[in-house]
Amino acid sequence: MVVHEREPFNAEPPRAALAGRRRTPVDAFYSRNHGPIPDIEPAAWRLRVDGLVTRALELSLKDLRGQFETVEVQATLQCAGNRRAGLVAVRDIPGEDPWGPGATSTACWSGVRLADVLDAAGLRPQAAHIAFEAPDVSRLADPPQPYGSSIPTAKALGPEVLLAWAMNGGPLPRVHGGPLRALVPGWIGARSVKWLTHVTARAQPSGNYFQAVAYRVLPAEADPRQPGPADGISLGPITLNCDFLYPDDGAHLPPGETGITGYALAGDDRTVARVDVSLDGGRSWRQAALDRPDSPWTWQHWRTTLVLPVGDTEVIARAWDCTGAVMPESPVHLWNPKGYANNSWARIRVLCR
Ligand code: MTE
Repeated sequence: MVVHEREPFNAEPPRAALAGRRRTPVDAFYSRNHGPIPDIEPAAWRLRVDGLVTRALELSLKDLRGQFETVEVQATLQCAGNRRAGLVAVRDIPGEDPWGPGATSTACWSGVRLADVLDAAGLRPQAAHIAFEAPDVSRLADPPQPYGSSIPTAKALGPEVLLAWAMNGGPLPRVHGGPLRALVPGWIGARSVKWLTHVTARAQPSGNYFQAVAYRVLPAEADPRQPGPADGISLGPITLNCDFLYPDDGAHLPPGETGITGYALAGDDRTVARVDVSLDGGRSWRQAALDRPDSPWTWQHWRTTLVLPVGDTEVIARAWDCTGAVMPESPVHLWNPKGYANNSWARIRVLCR
């Protein structure tokens, strides 16, 4: 893993650990934390469900397993800071880690549908948002506070949104939110709250720092330490994006035919329609072959074979989605003070001799 920080622990797999695997092994799955990782005794853990509901609930893991249908969802998680390094290259982003393309990983998650639990609690008509809270206190928040976020009820009721206790067939590891996390496929990873202890139905989005202040695309001139209330764009659905998985940036290769692979992800209920690859700075493009996704909520791997010339070559990739939207060429116009949602063309340099 490429470790960006030890405390809080933030690490991403190198491209080679993601390449050729549609599902990411647990030990290669990226890890994004804003505070210390809590140590929760699963038998003592409880989930409280309250707010704008007709029956507040308190549920143990046994209750969740016994009272609701267990389901599996294959889903890719992607952090909003994925590929931030490309924005940092435009202008420094103090206090934020320079994530590469590895803040993106895919697993098979098991748990219960959030919709079923909310149905048991009985949502009141005013419940427009579902908020999540966890016990990990982040000193990055101002003032320091436990991590939390929210999603609109319309998304929360989707059958893909889980309260998950297992990952790739094993118990959910502590670092990934064990004993229980929210899983919000298609939305930025920040909404998939780990170590979940509290679900609240609300009329308004969560006021938690990580919903109301962070994870917003601020205007370039804004001061990220003092954003105005509700400044910027609150991130929800993942932005259309792609990157390379093989070869790595800076690879030394023999010239000639080379297999090139990568991943693409459209976000929420959109699909990737096409991935193009260019060897001449974007003047001409070749379409890559696109794998079918394992579920509507996973990345799609893509592949092509290129004839690489002798010397130093830049290889570029861009994805299109089913709405006809395409990744923009340059990160310059995407730069934002917290460094989120860089979906400019993916670029690697390879040296062939
Ligand atoms: N949940 C809690 N409680 N604390 C956190 O710091 N980080 C969020 C989200 N859930 C976070 C959290 C962010 S920004 C991301 S991208 C995902 O968890 C990362 O999940 P992972 O570490 O399992 O990959």
